Amino acid sequence: MKVVKKREEIKREINELKAKGLSVGFVPTMGALHQGHLSLVRRAGKENDRVVVSIFVNPTQFNNAEDLEKYPRDLATDLNLLSDEGCDLVFAPEVEEMYPDGEEKAAYDFGLLTGVMEGANRPGHFDGVATVVEKLFEAIPADRAYFGKKDYQQLLVIRSLVKQRNIDIEIVGCEIVREADGLAMSSRNRRLTAAQRARAPFIYSTLQKAASLAGQLSPVELKELVAKEINSVEEMELEYFEPADADTLQPVETFEKNKNVMGFIVVNLGSVRLIDNIRIF
Ligand code: PAF
Repeated sequence: MKVVKKREEIKREINELKAKGLSVGFVPTMGALHQGHLSLVRRAGKENDRVVVSIFVNPTQFNNAEDLEKYPRDLATDLNLLSDEGCDLVFAPEVEEMYPDGEEKAAYDFGLLTGVMEGANRPGHFDGVATVVEKLFEAIPADRAYFGKKDYQQLLVIRSLVKQRNIDIEIVGCEIVREADGLAMSSRNRRLTAAQRARAPFIYSTLQKAASLAGQLSPVELKELVAKEINSVEEMELEYFEPADADTLQPVETFEKNKNVMGFIVVNLGSVRLIDNIRIF
């Protein structure tokens, strides 16, 4: 497994593979890898001749300095995990390599997609994500790129980015990987104390409860129920629970047979921000 730090070099490597007729699958990450990331790497390996993973904690998508500072970083462990999975290439640039002219993000227009949830609650977040993903796709002209559905809104934003910018890459959305107790895997989980970790699966069980009651209860009633349940747990504070259309991400006012509705949730557990979603209707 080769580790590359420069954009020019990774691009040369990918172009050489493609010139040989080999297909390339790309998994963009911010490191602190867990089984969720590794499941993307495995899928990329099944569907492509070669796999490249990027590890880069992108400063421009954090709108909270403390969150950026505390984001877990462990390159040595990540490289061992990736090598065990048979990853071929790792792109692990420094901040200056990705942002030689300073940490600027481009401005994008994703329409209604970014007017809600993460877009509304983390101003500038998706411009930061799109900026780095566009730079990564330019450096790594892969055939397919793999993203987890835990960040479902991000997945739709990236699909929109690729369409708007005419980038020739297939975006593959992959199912959420959960711990045995239901907690969605996340790099942030490692920041939970033992007591917080024990409480965290309540987020998923609350989503399941919401799914079982959707239709019987209206979206507004469900939101009230979820808020009450989550906020009753020690150290848990609901940031939002939004029943929203699976394609447009717009909040729904009613549950209707022909509409796929997902429940999107963000919970702050102590100082750790946890995100999850499931189909609820
Ligand atoms: O999902 C992530 O880990 C990040 O948002 C991504 C896509 C690697 C961009 O920094």
